[in-house]
Order: sequence, then C-alpha cells, then structure tokens
Amino acid sequence: MPRGWTRCAMVWWTITWINMGLSGCRRHYLPFMGSSAGFILAFYTAFRPGARIAVIRPGYPAYVNTLLDLGFGVAEIPLSVANGWLLTGANIASAFARELSAELLFASPANPTGVALDRVGLADIVTTCERLGIVLISDEICHGLDYRAPSVSALELTKNAIIINSFSKRYCMTEWRIG
Ligand SMILES: Cc1ncc(COP(=O)(O)O)c(C=O)c1O
Repeated sequence: MPRGWTRCAMVWWTITWINMGLSGCRRHYLPFMGSSAGFILAFYTAFRPGARIAVIRPGYPAYVNTLLDLGFGVAEIPLSVANGWLLTGANIASAFARELSAELLFASPANPTGVALDRVGLADIVTTCERLGIVLISDEICHGLDYRAPSVSALELTKNAIIINSFSKRYCMTEWRIG
C-alpha cells in the first residue's frame, strides 16, 4: 500500500476512534491491503493451527473458503428468520459446549442479511466469548451502513478482540485495498 494512503488511513481511524472515545487504539492498529488480506494475518495470529472457527449461516461465504484453505476447521451456526437472523451469546455457548467450535468470526452489520447488533446484543457476544475463552474476530467492514443507529464496535466493549475494518464498503473503495 502506498505510504501516503497508509498515513491517510491512520489519520481517518484515529479520528474515528477519538469520536468513539477510544483514543488508545492507535498503538494496536495495523494497516493492510483491504480486509481480506487482513483476515489471513488475523487468522494466523489469533487461531491455533487447526482450530475450529464458528461462523454464522447465512454469512459471508469467503470466511469458509479462506478458513478451510488456511487449514482451519469451520463450524456453522445456523440462524433463521424466526430469530431475526440474530447471533446471540447462547448460540455461541451451545456450539462451544458441543465442541463444534473454539473461536468466533462474525460480522455486524452482517453480509448477506444486513442484520446489525445493537450494543446489548454485541455485549452479549463479547461477554460470552470472554467467559468461555473464545478468541473473537469482529468484522466491522459494514460499519457506517447501519441506518438505524451508529454502529457499535466490539472495541467499545473489550480489548480482547481483533477488529477488521476497511474502506471498501463505507466509501465504495473496494479496489483501493485499504483496511
Ligand atoms: C462481511 C464482509 N467482510 C469482508 C469483506 C471483504 O472486503 P475487502 O474488500 O476489504 O477485502 C466483505 C466483502 O464483500 C464482506 O462482505
């Protein structure tokens, strides 16, 4: 990524974090070539080799392809229209108890359902992961496309998570590969 763009991204995220009351995040930020490349680094950094990762179904299909290609296992947590396509702490705890999964990767707002968790819903997921020792990767690439209320970041609730974000969706800058 050109150095100038890295700087611009850094400035943008710093302003965003200050607005969110998260001024300390700068030290823990790594610019990358879009979120997809960032995922690969995050997976290898956060997950043990061969770990089984929980993802929601329906979900972003590339999660499954990427995880499997990198040698991880996948446990899909099925969601339904009956529960509003919402992931809850109980869903995660149940998959964990049945040893279907060890870690969690999910997006809010979600692709393809568009479902966005509110602060209470996200806190439920974050606290469940912390209680069970589950590594959490929160894909926040669709932040800013939540038209009911400001999107809530897992960073507002915990320091024990990896956050993935990029300019692709919010600013229609897919080809710029900044994340
Ligand atoms: C939920 C989600 N995460 C990540 C990505 C990948 O985005 P990027 O263009 O930053 O690699 C997409 C792209 O569609 C997506 O829908």
